Amino acid sequence: MTVLVLGGAGYIGSHAVDQLIEKQYDVAVIDNLRTGHQQAVHKKARFYQGDIRDKSFMESIFEKEAIEGVLHFAAHSLVGESMQQPLQYFNNNVYGTQVVLEVMQKFGVKLIVFSSSAATYGEPKEIPIKETADTNPESPYGETKLMMENILKWCDHAYDMKFVALRYFNVAGAKLDGSIGEDHSPESHLVPLILQTALGQRKELLIFGDDYPTADGTCIRDYVHVVDLIEAHILALDYLKAGNQSAVFNLGSSAGFSVKQMLDTAREVTGKEIPAVVTARRAGDPSTLIASSEKARNILGWKPQHTDIKAIIASAWNWHNAFPNGYDDTKNE
Ligand code: UFG
Repeated sequence: MTVLVLGGAGYIGSHAVDQLIEKQYDVAVIDNLRTGHQQAVHKKARFYQGDIRDKSFMESIFEKEAIEGVLHFAAHSLVGESMQQPLQYFNNNVYGTQVVLEVMQKFGVKLIVFSSSAATYGEPKEIPIKETADTNPESPYGETKLMMENILKWCDHAYDMKFVALRYFNVAGAKLDGSIGEDHSPESHLVPLILQTALGQRKELLIFGDDYPTADGTCIRDYVHVVDLIEAHILALDYLKAGNQSAVFNLGSSAGFSVKQMLDTAREVTGKEIPAVVTARRAGDPSTLIASSEKARNILGWKPQHTDIKAIIASAWNWHNAFPNGYDDTKNE
């Protein structure tokens, strides 16, 4: 039986494919390569280039492959971009998921593990954030993720499709051997931006605001290692295969680090100066986001192994050093 990974050429999806293959799963991958990289996909996975919104394409894959469960990473994922292009987000994320579910229903595939987000919560009233907290997304991106969760809930009700929605906090790091990692273009995430500055590819890091109500004035986030994050997906798949109920879990490390702490740790890890300047706040950034991940630990048996922030940054640094220009190997020579 095969696990189908949607968005398996992206940063997080490619780590999922890699870990599934290492654990002897049979894996098929669908990715439209709009932001993903085919080089990131493990050679032992069967790769199909296409768009999840293309129903006849999706049906052709479900006809060919004996799919037992789906891991769904295929989505647009930038908060800022979603504020400018909300319809693109609703189309790709919400409509795309609808097509996936229609095809799953047609072919009798009942299990899906899906990438949700801390962005479903909006500005939290309590820290750490539990899964029972109110969901008031403050961006179209967060709204699409909440809508996707709700669509899954009603598909469970009507068709007995079982889902696990994993609400990610800040995913960082790379496979420990540095062979796959984070490569977005343009890049907007803190850790790769800090490390590109360490490599001299950027003049300085812009710190978005130092007047937040936190100890050093910069925003606090909960960083989770991509390898640990994927471990939770595999546990979630096993949880569904064992016949358990649909559920929502936060995935974070339950510890918060400020932008300045991340920068200082990266200076320590890389031994580089990493110039930085404080600039205005970025619209829509909550001051502090820290997950309670107790539920995933208790119910899925999730035990994140790489919670040390130095180790997370070191693994990302390893990747950035090996592939300073990302997957564009013409530039890495
Ligand atoms: N930051 C900077 N300078 C930069 C980039 C980021 O100071 O150049 C700061 C941000 O203001 C924020 C922190 O670094 O405080 C982390 O920013 P990221 O862009 O790396 O991540 P976000 O917290 O904005 O977003 C992440 C995921 C989203 C998800 C969101 C949930 O990347 O997909 O968490 O809130 F929606």
